[in-house]
Amino acid sequence: MINFKELADEYKTPLYIYNLDYMTQQYEKLKEAFKGRKSMMAYAVKSNSNLSVIKHFSSLGSGADCVSIGEIRRAFLAGIPSYKIIFSGVGKSDDEIREAIEKDILYINVESEAELGRVELIAKELDTTCRISIRVNPNIDPQTHPYISTGLHDNKFGVEIDTAKRMYIKANNSQNLDPIGIHFHIGSQLTELKPIYESAEIVADLVRSLKTIKIDIKFFDIGGGLGVKYNKEITIELYDYAQAILSTLRGLDLTVVCEPGRFLTANAGYFITKVLYEKQNRKKRFVVVDGAMNDLLRPALYNAYHKIEAITDNTGDENKADIVGPVCESGDFFAKDYLLPNLEHNDLLVIHSAGAYGFGMGSNYNTRARSAEVAISDGMHRLIRKRETFDNLVALELEFLD
Ligand code: LLP
Repeated sequence: MINFKELADEYKTPLYIYNLDYMTQQYEKLKEAFKGRKSMMAYAVKSNSNLSVIKHFSSLGSGADCVSIGEIRRAFLAGIPSYKIIFSGVGKSDDEIREAIEKDILYINVESEAELGRVELIAKELDTTCRISIRVNPNIDPQTHPYISTGLHDNKFGVEIDTAKRMYIKANNSQNLDPIGIHFHIGSQLTELKPIYESAEIVADLVRSLKTIKIDIKFFDIGGGLGVKYNKEITIELYDYAQAILSTLRGLDLTVVCEPGRFLTANAGYFITKVLYEKQNRKKRFVVVDGAMNDLLRPALYNAYHKIEAITDNTGDENKADIVGPVCESGDFFAKDYLLPNLEHNDLLVIHSAGAYGFGMGSNYNTRARSAEVAISDGMHRLIRKRETFDNLVALELEFLD
């Protein structure tokens, strides 16, 4: 049991807490599911990019899936070896591509024909060969929130099968490109196995057809996307997940690459916020807290559900309330019509499942300093990111008028 009150007293609020032991368990379970096969885990750094968290996954043997050169630099700082780092993303700048090639990472996931051209040109300038993988958009509906769906032709991600094939042929004929992987990622918070299986089938068929023209792919990168339980979701069994993927790889000798983010971090994290006031109008009860959408954006952006636990001495009846922050937006809420007992000034609310896409999607909107982050493991706790200060927030600004 985590003593949230003690942590809030010591580190103040709003505060993020991550349970590293939970992350280890999730990592081991997923790794185990693919054990019959050559596989590699590449932690999706975007889900929680605190260096201590990345370092933790590095210590478990994980690689990293990165979406910017900033994330790649973080992965290196955290000790992830270059040969376990993947660079994905729909818009990489020339500078980012150059640095990724110079750093000799495992491969770049290429997302368009135009990008393939840039990567080739830059590799040529550097007089080298760049290992690449191509992100295929299988046009399968992942049945998740539209903002986190990525595998339909409506979405900006990846390329169609025919285009991918053309790109592989081009890459294979180039002195400066080495096509070693194939990639798909159809969305996030997936709770249906069928779309994943169907996508894997389509992509595996492409691998087979490339094989007939002597283009030999080595890495089958299945992206991330495994859903977790925020509320009552029925999640995919890991055994079924792995078996569904592996069943599509008949006759192929490939290393399966997984890019899990949320599955490893979401339910390892908690966001603790303090009650400032209760407020009631004719229509609604509001609980105003010291955390806000700039700390945890998911409810405001996706209307996402996060379980909320009150830490209070009040034991009376529970009534519905909107839990809102101090930011000047009506969208600044953590939950609506949520059942809570009456709360007092300084009572705590623990927002669950906040370890993925929490702190990382934070901002300084309303000149609010971002919260501190604390890791716990084996009964110990440690600060892993200091709370920002006002001075941090204005440090980069320059005067227009002297
Ligand atoms: N690989 C690629 C290429 C991705 O785009 C993503 C996530 C992942 C792996 C990791 O996906 P995961 O295992 O975490 O589902 N901000 C949203 C989620 C955005 C996901 C973006 N891509 C949210 O808070 O739900």
